[in-house]
Amino acid sequence: MRKSCLFLSYAASIAALAAEPTLTVDVAHPSGKVSPRLYGLMTEEINHCYDGGLYAELIRNRAFLDDKDRPVHWSVVSGSGADATFALDPVNPYNDKLTTSLCVTVAQASAAHPAGVANNGYWGIPVQPHTRYRATLLARAEPGFSGPVTVSIVSEDGRVVYAQEKLSSLSPQWNRFQTTLKTGRLTPTAKARFRITLDQPGTVWLGLVSLFPPTWNDRTNGLRKDLMQMLVDLKPKFLRFPGGNYLEGETIETRFQWKNIIGPIEERHGHPCPWGYRSTDGMGLLEFLEWCEDMQAEPLLAVYAGYSLRGDYVKAGPDLEPFVQEALEEIEYVVGNTSTTWGARRARDGHPTPFRLNYVEIGNEDGFDKAKSYDGRFAQFCDAIKAKFPRLKMISTVSNDDLRTRKGDMVDLHFYSSTDEFIRMSRDFGANFSRNGPEIFVGEWAAHEDSAVRPWDPPAKKLPPTPSMKAAIGDGVFLAAMERNSDIILMQCYAPLLVNVNPGAWQWRPDLIGYDALSAYGSPSYYAIQMFSRNLGDEILPVQLTDTPVHASATRDSKTGEVFLKLVNPQPNPQHLRLDIKGVASLAPKATVTTLAASPDDTNSIDHPRRVVPVITTLRGLHPSFTYTLPPHSIVVLALKPRR
Ligand code: AHR
Repeated sequence: MRKSCLFLSYAASIAALAAEPTLTVDVAHPSGKVSPRLYGLMTEEINHCYDGGLYAELIRNRAFLDDKDRPVHWSVVSGSGADATFALDPVNPYNDKLTTSLCVTVAQASAAHPAGVANNGYWGIPVQPHTRYRATLLARAEPGFSGPVTVSIVSEDGRVVYAQEKLSSLSPQWNRFQTTLKTGRLTPTAKARFRITLDQPGTVWLGLVSLFPPTWNDRTNGLRKDLMQMLVDLKPKFLRFPGGNYLEGETIETRFQWKNIIGPIEERHGHPCPWGYRSTDGMGLLEFLEWCEDMQAEPLLAVYAGYSLRGDYVKAGPDLEPFVQEALEEIEYVVGNTSTTWGARRARDGHPTPFRLNYVEIGNEDGFDKAKSYDGRFAQFCDAIKAKFPRLKMISTVSNDDLRTRKGDMVDLHFYSSTDEFIRMSRDFGANFSRNGPEIFVGEWAAHEDSAVRPWDPPAKKLPPTPSMKAAIGDGVFLAAMERNSDIILMQCYAPLLVNVNPGAWQWRPDLIGYDALSAYGSPSYYAIQMFSRNLGDEILPVQLTDTPVHASATRDSKTGEVFLKLVNPQPNPQHLRLDIKGVASLAPKATVTTLAASPDDTNSIDHPRRVVPVITTLRGLHPSFTYTLPPHSIVVLALKPRR
């Protein structure tokens, strides 16, 4: 009896030994090159991503075009004897693009009790201490009235004036007025409004009202600084724009018509975006390109390819020719030198130097086109673009197997799946991609907590707009899979990128970065991507995992020799691993460990922006074979320095 017990425990320990969960990395035999463009961003107007988001404009409905019947987001300032009325005035527009104006009539007012109009911004006007705001008005006045007009940033009840200036010399002709509003000491708030008031009776017309806080790189028509910092921190190598569905539009007419979205903002009428609201078109082609420049990322331009969301399409052949021409001119605007028509136009718009462009995507998700017209459309675009810009690579939005006439140099694949599904498919992901091409672009992807809740389901489901740690685990597993295959998956980008978290502001979840008027936060998925993209070598190292539920990828920096090991533990219990780093004589005794670990339901929010964030620690006493324990539900990056 005693003997058999002994035998059993011996056998068990042999079995335990044999089954020790192990991860082996072969540093001596890289299996391929990591794509230098692997980490990028995808963007479109969705969830108030630009208007009420990254685009720093603070005035909502700045050109009074959001609603043809009412000046929504504007209200009358009156009371205590002050009296004003307002009305949309399509008879007195500023120009043929800003097709209505706001007529403001002040019947009674005084310095103590001014009257006029106020704007409540995109869920508030954010006010920061000691900050300069640039206010711009396109305005005219009735004959005999020249002002002054007071522009101010005030508290919601109008009692606290945070900053104000006076504008004068109004005349019956339209003119541009600009001033700087400077705030002093104050507690940051978004409970504020922008006011335009008179302290005497008079009538003025407003064609456009704009208010900008300081922007990233001080660009005039620029971007919100806190959000840009978060994007730059992801080290993106490319930006896919302008969509997504936003490129296609609900109809052909409401597609992204780039020529309408260049030049001064008063030359842009705006257009309906397919996500249920109107775009000011403040973010136009040049703004996208400068955004890339400011992140040192390459533009990945998607051109409209003759198919829109409601199913309208343009038949390949002569009907499609104007659209092909539109795309050729758009590309010329991006890359043409100043001797070309559209390169010269770009210079006139303020950017003489051409932009660097390597990839052009033809359309978006054309697999949804029931008429199956993409084969012909893709071929026509492809031939015309290649003839004029032979260096450019063409991205198709359907698999090459579904294309007969021409094949894409690269294929854009989209994956929106549950975390469980990502975990299931990620082990072998990429194994059956042919290494002879086409190149793979995972142009949209995101793990969802639960496949039963679809991204566009109403917020009644009570899930917040940004993902939880559970989804971040799915993201981490998928990122590891893409990194292991980054010899053929050359680019990837999570979608959607940005969300204004105010009720009514968003249409899709989950989204990577959340914000309101005043502050922004990264979701756990944001930090997962940041950990991956900031710890990336240029060589893929083969990784072998035995007897462990852990997912992993490894890369090496060929210049420094540093090895980056990414480990993802989807399980609720810690995972012990033996790490065998083959092909190195020894390791530097210290390694940096970055850990993102939390309960699956944990997440970040405006009120708790840093509940789930990476923690950096140091691991000591390392040898090429060592044991490491991953916390439950964690994503870990080990940066190991082999000794040469
Ligand atoms: O990312 C949200 C939407 O998902 C994109 O606009 C579209 O391309 C996809 O269907």
